[in-house]
Amino acid sequence: MRTDPPKSLRPLRAILLGFLLASTPLLTACEEEARIPAHSVIPNPTSVSLSAGDTFHLGDETRITFQPGDEEAERIGQFLADLIGNTVETTPEVTGVVENRQDGSIHLTLQDPPPSVGPEGYELVVSGAGVTIRASSPAGLFYGVQTLRQLLPPVVEYTAAYPKPLYVPAMTVMDTPRFPWRGAMLDVSRHFFQSDDVKRFIDLMALYKLNRLHLHLSDDQGWRIEIPSRPNLTLHGGSTEVGGREGGFFSVDDFSALVQYAADRFVTIVPEIDVPGHTNAALASYPELNCDGVARDLYTGTSVGFSALCTEREEVYEFLEDVVRDIAAVSPGAFFHVGGDEVERLGQEAFNAFIERMEGIVESNGKRLVGWEEVSMADIGPEAVVQLWRPLWKADDGPALDSARAAQAAELQEAALRVASQGTTFILSPADRLYLDMKYNPSTAVGLTWAGMADVRTSYDWTVGELFGILPEESIAGVEAPLWSETIDHIHDIEYLAFPRLAGAAEIGWSLESGRSWEEYRIRLGAQAPRWTALGVNFYRSPDVPWVEGF
Ligand code: ACM
Repeated sequence: MRTDPPKSLRPLRAILLGFLLASTPLLTACEEEARIPAHSVIPNPTSVSLSAGDTFHLGDETRITFQPGDEEAERIGQFLADLIGNTVETTPEVTGVVENRQDGSIHLTLQDPPPSVGPEGYELVVSGAGVTIRASSPAGLFYGVQTLRQLLPPVVEYTAAYPKPLYVPAMTVMDTPRFPWRGAMLDVSRHFFQSDDVKRFIDLMALYKLNRLHLHLSDDQGWRIEIPSRPNLTLHGGSTEVGGREGGFFSVDDFSALVQYAADRFVTIVPEIDVPGHTNAALASYPELNCDGVARDLYTGTSVGFSALCTEREEVYEFLEDVVRDIAAVSPGAFFHVGGDEVERLGQEAFNAFIERMEGIVESNGKRLVGWEEVSMADIGPEAVVQLWRPLWKADDGPALDSARAAQAAELQEAALRVASQGTTFILSPADRLYLDMKYNPSTAVGLTWAGMADVRTSYDWTVGELFGILPEESIAGVEAPLWSETIDHIHDIEYLAFPRLAGAAEIGWSLESGRSWEEYRIRLGAQAPRWTALGVNFYRSPDVPWVEGF
């Protein structure tokens, strides 16, 4: 145990103390709003109380401890040990102990969590004598570790670091998420991204406590997951991508490995097979899915709305039974996303009947149906989850609507309210705020603009109540930030469009609205830059954010 900082850190402690003392008393309302945050954790925790004058220092003797037999705490402890091992001389030992002795160790425990932390929250107590993270579930311990990680100097992320002092100011954090669904979506169909890129994305999601990765696995341009009972879907339907280059797909083993990698970071993969539209890759692979029985040509452009399964043919449902069964077999998560968006080649009645049948297939494979907002027009059950995406929920907020679009908006809102009254829940993905593929501004080199442009503030600075106030609060499962890939084909572009906006989406999903303001957030956001630099993240340096340099 070491309670006094080494000499080299004393000036730092003096600065921290001075800053704490200067930042607490008697601020005007304006200063209060603009004041420098006491920490830079994203998403903003429910409460943080700093204990001035005390600091925890990691040393060669620091151990990470857990209750003997708690394998998940041990695994999460090892994650933290590996991270710290980047930066200190000796990777901390991870060891079971019967009692938390506060002997300079970092203790992870599922015993006696404060009831207020709920199923995914945690309590983090840092003092000079040690660190304790308590939670009621392994997910909560993992999130507590992510907070501790963000409280450590950014150099902890840098694998080529020389040994450096690591320290955390003393504090107590109590934290619990606002919503259970805190997601991101990656379109691996328009352009295919290999497993390593998806894993990198999962790693960055985990840093911000995101817990759902929705993979858009099929579209007109490519089918990206092996279906053993329908091999031509990937052999042919996955062979190209937008622009006509070679495509690709996840084999069953690749996909299973991704599911496990995500689960190890408390991220559930939500597979999406988009039907009945956005199906050209399937229509090209199996002729019997077309009403005329003729296979379509592969498609490498970026139009939408032109394809649809022949919903009158029984072969289509046999096909969908095979697809859902084979994917459900390798997806332990509770959800199966059926798409359902932008179907222009099918009447409403046929669409509704199709979705209702699809829900039966999904449920008979033990999953809950998720669909884009159009599915709320059908008679879906209370277990279904509807993903709202059109930028028309607040009429004066999105791009101007012509009368046809306004009528469509009204119809969709009515349908959503109807299913909400039956218990259906919603994921919020308003395209003008949370679509990560919208350009930041006209000079953004990649991305689209159909929902407008979403600079960092536009993407962050809204509340659920303001945009979706007509929905009952209890019907909202959470938020998700989709990243469509028509214009991007490299992980550098994924990172550039996702960061910084994905951090904001994570905060909207996790933090209380009373704990959010743009003026305060932008400062915490600016403090992420050294961490992203250490991690090699290619992020957009918005001029609206005071980025901290170096690390
Ligand atoms: C969508 O953006 N078509 C869901």
